[in-house]
Amino acid sequence: MEPIGVGIIGTGNISDAYLKAAPGFSFLKVVACADINMEAARAKAAAHGIEALEVAALLADPRVGIVLNLTTPQHHVGVGLQAIAAGKHVYSEKPLAVELAEAMKLVDAAAKAGLRAGCAPDTFLGGSHQTARAALDSGLIGEVVAGSAAMMVPGHEIWHPNPDFYYQPGGGPMLDMGPYYLTCLVNMLGPVAAVTGSAKAAYATRTIGSGPRAGQVVEVKVPTHISGILDFANGAQITITTSFDVWKHGHNHIELYGRKGSMIVPDPNQFQGAVMASEHRGDWAEVEQAHLYGDGNYRILGLADMAQAIRTGRPHRASLELSLHVLEIMTSIIKAAETGLRIMLSHQCGRPEAMVPGLPKGQLD
Ligand SMILES: NC(=O)c1ccc[n+]([C@@H]2O[C@H](COP(=O)([O-])OP(=O)(O)OC[C@H]3O[C@@H](n4cnc5c(N)ncnc54)[C@H](O)[C@@H]3O)[C@@H](O)[C@H]2O)c1
Repeated sequence: MEPIGVGIIGTGNISDAYLKAAPGFSFLKVVACADINMEAARAKAAAHGIEALEVAALLADPRVGIVLNLTTPQHHVGVGLQAIAAGKHVYSEKPLAVELAEAMKLVDAAAKAGLRAGCAPDTFLGGSHQTARAALDSGLIGEVVAGSAAMMVPGHEIWHPNPDFYYQPGGGPMLDMGPYYLTCLVNMLGPVAAVTGSAKAAYATRTIGSGPRAGQVVEVKVPTHISGILDFANGAQITITTSFDVWKHGHNHIELYGRKGSMIVPDPNQFQGAVMASEHRGDWAEVEQAHLYGDGNYRILGLADMAQAIRTGRPHRASLELSLHVLEIMTSIIKAAETGLRIMLSHQCGRPEAMVPGLPKGQLD
């Protein structure tokens, strides 16, 4: 069967990871890329042996079945709506949108057009996080009572040559990194029912640390240290902190505390990492990994899963419902911080299907 053609819009920093991982899945093929900056698109196309097109030409290209939207967050919905209007399925980098009302436009348009829309992150489909979920489902640590999630770094301007978007409305550490932590938690524990929050910004400006703009100062327009308490529908209470204000810390990425024991879940921004568990107050021991995609960077797995789901008619795992729920959690934590209110969530989702163990690499069904 012919592979589904993928056209990339947005050929910046993250596009290399997708282009490198794509050949691992024979049922999809990246055919072209586009960017408002055609120089960037041409350079990426030349490096990866694909065609560079203007955005409109890529959207009109009959070879493109799925648009892979790798633009910056403020453009995710706009580009997504363009793709749907052109009759293409669309898979976007995270977050789904920067506001819930914007995301709903995409949800409605995809539903009306009968097209698929999916959204990163897809790291929760990797070997480590599927292992953690399977261990929880097997009752290894018992019912989860509480837990913590910590994503605290000094800020991406240290390494990203164009970090402006992280400090503009729609940026900040929660919308940027929260999707990894929250998607991972919802995959393991199911949906969140209600949130509270607190937020601040420690610095008024940031200085770009690398690239041609090194030394330029960026104004901070969003909170950069955001904490939330997540009350999950299953009763688990998890605290989450996302920060661009912390030089160094000693917390694990995610810890879960169950009635029978505890679990350390590795970085949800990676596919690999050891899952550790302890029984009662016993020593930590590594949980054996039975799932694939836990030994490298498979940042295209969610798109590959969506491509395969389009063929077979099953739901895809990195879904609109999941990313909409995660977006509502994040925007509600920020709203709770602004208002001092506890916010009940209105867009719920189920857990995505677990990955099927035992299949050969590159085959998802
Ligand atoms: N950089 C990373 O390590 C990383 C990791 C995971 C996810 N992401 C996510 O990927 C997305 C892109 O991040 P990045 O770091 O590659 O950003 P980037 O700024 O390096 O690249 C974004 C590209 O999109 C283009 N673009 C913006 N709006 C456009 C539009 N309307 N039409 C066509 N092209 C447009 C820009 O010209 C730019 O080339 C973000 O949502 C980010 O959160 C980034």
